[in-house]
Amino acid sequence: MQEVFVGQEDEIPEGGRKVVVAGGIEIGVFRVDGQLQAWRNECPHQGGPVCQGKMMKGVEERLDADRRSLGIHYKEGSLHVVCPWHGYEFDLRTGRHAGLDRIRLAAHKVTVRQGAVFVSVNA
Ligand code: FES
Repeated sequence: MQEVFVGQEDEIPEGGRKVVVAGGIEIGVFRVDGQLQAWRNECPHQGGPVCQGKMMKGVEERLDADRRSLGIHYKEGSLHVVCPWHGYEFDLRTGRHAGLDRIRLAAHKVTVRQGAVFVSVNA
């Protein structure tokens, strides 16, 4: 494992991202809930540039006590990215697909030292 410098911490505001090439791998670094998360920019579906997709709140259907739909709503506090190729949607906190838990983005460890951001990649 090797740490690669990818930029300064203040380059990525809350809800923002920076897509970099580190160790020959494209990685998206996102800030969610104040934390930096790094995901490989390679969709587990067919390899699309998932980290460059639209970011939006997750969507959920609310049900009443009788399980009747109350409509579709944005899930407060959530942040997802939508792959631009075929629309697979991933939770940026966990890397999990919005509907299929077994499909996940590949994670990279993020380290911040004195405002400098590093991601870990296989050497
Ligand atoms: S490659 Fe991402 S949804 Fe198909």
